[in-house]
Amino acid sequence: MAKNEVVETSEAQIAVHWQEEKYVYPSKKFIEQANIKDETIYERFALNNFPECYTEYADLLHWYKKWDTILDTSDAPCWKWFAGGKINACYNCVDRHLEKNKNKTAIHFVPEPENERVQHITYQELYVRVNEVAALLRDFTGLKAGDTVTLHLPMTAELPITMLACARLGVIHSQVFGGFSGRACADRIVDSKSKVLITIDGYYRGGKLIDHKQNADIAVDLAKKDGQKVDKVLIWQRYPGKNSVPTPMIEGLDYFVNDLLKNYRGKKVDPVPMPAEAPLFLMYTSGTTGKPKGCQHSTGGYLAYVTGTSKYIQDIHPEDVYWCMADIGWITGHSYIVYGPLSLCASTVIYEGVPTYPDAGRAWRIAEELNVNIFHTAPTLIRALRKIDPDLPKKYNHHFKHMTTVGEPIEPEVWRWYHEVVGKNEAVIVDTWWQTETGGFLCSTVPGVKPMKPGSAGPGVPGIHPIIYDELGNEIKAGEGRAGNICIRNPWPGAFQTIWGDRDRYVSTYYAKYCKDKNSKDWRDWPYLAGDAAMEAEDGYYRILGRIDDVINVSGHRLGTKEIESAALTVMEVAEAAVVPVSDEIKGVVPDLYISLKPGYEPTDELAMKISAKICETIGKIAKPRRVWLVSDMPKTRSGKIMRRVLGALSNKKDVGDVSTLANPEIVDEIKRVTS
Ligand code: PRX
Repeated sequence: MAKNEVVETSEAQIAVHWQEEKYVYPSKKFIEQANIKDETIYERFALNNFPECYTEYADLLHWYKKWDTILDTSDAPCWKWFAGGKINACYNCVDRHLEKNKNKTAIHFVPEPENERVQHITYQELYVRVNEVAALLRDFTGLKAGDTVTLHLPMTAELPITMLACARLGVIHSQVFGGFSGRACADRIVDSKSKVLITIDGYYRGGKLIDHKQNADIAVDLAKKDGQKVDKVLIWQRYPGKNSVPTPMIEGLDYFVNDLLKNYRGKKVDPVPMPAEAPLFLMYTSGTTGKPKGCQHSTGGYLAYVTGTSKYIQDIHPEDVYWCMADIGWITGHSYIVYGPLSLCASTVIYEGVPTYPDAGRAWRIAEELNVNIFHTAPTLIRALRKIDPDLPKKYNHHFKHMTTVGEPIEPEVWRWYHEVVGKNEAVIVDTWWQTETGGFLCSTVPGVKPMKPGSAGPGVPGIHPIIYDELGNEIKAGEGRAGNICIRNPWPGAFQTIWGDRDRYVSTYYAKYCKDKNSKDWRDWPYLAGDAAMEAEDGYYRILGRIDDVINVSGHRLGTKEIESAALTVMEVAEAAVVPVSDEIKGVVPDLYISLKPGYEPTDELAMKISAKICETIGKIAKPRRVWLVSDMPKTRSGKIMRRVLGALSNKKDVGDVSTLANPEIVDEIKRVTS
């Protein structure tokens, strides 16, 4: 095989390169009230003030003991921020607000059924509930600082309450997205070595009360088979005191949290002062292999970074009502529903269900009722709402000062609709580019300082210094009009510390490619490889094109193509599986799955459905392929590698290019017939 022959296909390769757009300026009214109003922020966070600049974020927090070293690089590239410092994340998000703001709403929990009351949980009530749960975790399960615990919770107030209770004790929480299957939860229990699982009996989605308890049974069973015994399963109840789902409790294993809590009424637990570099949580994400990786996030650095960026980029003030529609099971929810907003004493909205249930006006009714003034969502939802009824938001009386888009590139025309119709030309928009690994924002405009540019994330946020390299490590400069691999030159406090239990994978995936000296302790030698293709315009604004690896973002949910392929390969009849990204009008990108069968099996619709169902069971519904194409063989190189590039071109109805070097070029026409 020729050395630079492209075999794979990636999001970046199917990306549409849209035109550079004109600036859109924030209103005077926004700027007047903004937390950051002038350009000097960029000077304060310039590289020549690195790493000292980040004390500005750390100083937003309460520390039991201040740090000795701002950035300890002795174990490069595992950076230690604020080393020697002692801090508690729960104290910062709850206790410290009580003196002045105990009666302010911390969490507005909005149940999906519209006839159920919104629950307004004050900081005082949050404090009481978090303490009781912390007491239960400590005294009933025996969890202590440094232990891990898996949470498999949906979007109810019990999720942040449980997270904060863990943080209070220094217990490392690993929240698994509620929509993931029992199998996916089991894998994460095993990898994190959790002995306790915290879940809920049921929750509402799309008008149905989902039986979530059955996932816990599957997870515990499969984890045990894979060598990790779960001793206790704690089960919240959607309606306290009532059994909402048919799946029975397992004697000696399952416990209702609400029953246990009766023994901990009014109990107080002192927050445990944790070393700044102690892990706060794990967040599993997809990579280029079938095995998800546990991104390990720190306590002090992470909290400083999400607090600082929530203040400067999200422009959160304590009096704001802030609604981020992400799921707390993803990093966006951890950083910008829970830890960032609560650390700043804002009121954060948690909505249980489907954003368009029972109709596309739901979001705007919630925003009206709660006086939401900061709104945060992903392009997928914006596209869907625009398609359902582009004029609908005009009929509602919500008013946002600030809106965020995150997770995928947003098309300029979709951006404009968001601005004009959802934001009523009043709100600023920040297009925030970042990742599970990065803890917080990497690129975005500072909303009161820099103009917006539709379709472009913006420059690095203060303190983040991006650089684009070509494959050979040459810098691609601003305005060159070429795309390359976007990297960050410098460490930052929100960055993950390592992959849980797999430092080698951490180094090789994120730092090896452009490392200048593998023995160096100097951060300048270790640029962070984000795994996205990007282009830098002349003005220093970055446009993100998509992943350069085997990861795809479906509706802003990150999936590894290898994860889907390995699930398909567990179906007995399947010989080979290949997933390629396909552009989709609403979801951005969706997976297409190509399958070749073992000899003797017939391609049937039933078999295609069986494979699709297996993927949902193994990963979750979000991974369901758009189509399962059963083909007689895959296009292959002479060395036997599947040419995903060709499949990607076929699925995206693009030119397949030169296929003469394939081992089996005749297959291309055959697949074309099947897929057209
Ligand atoms: O490809 C980029 C895309 O989402 C990936 C990270 O996904 P995840 O770890 O799940 O985190 C999502 C929420 C931060 C990135 O590698 N991505 C994220 N934000 C943007 C984006 N692509 C374009 N524009 C964005 N604003």
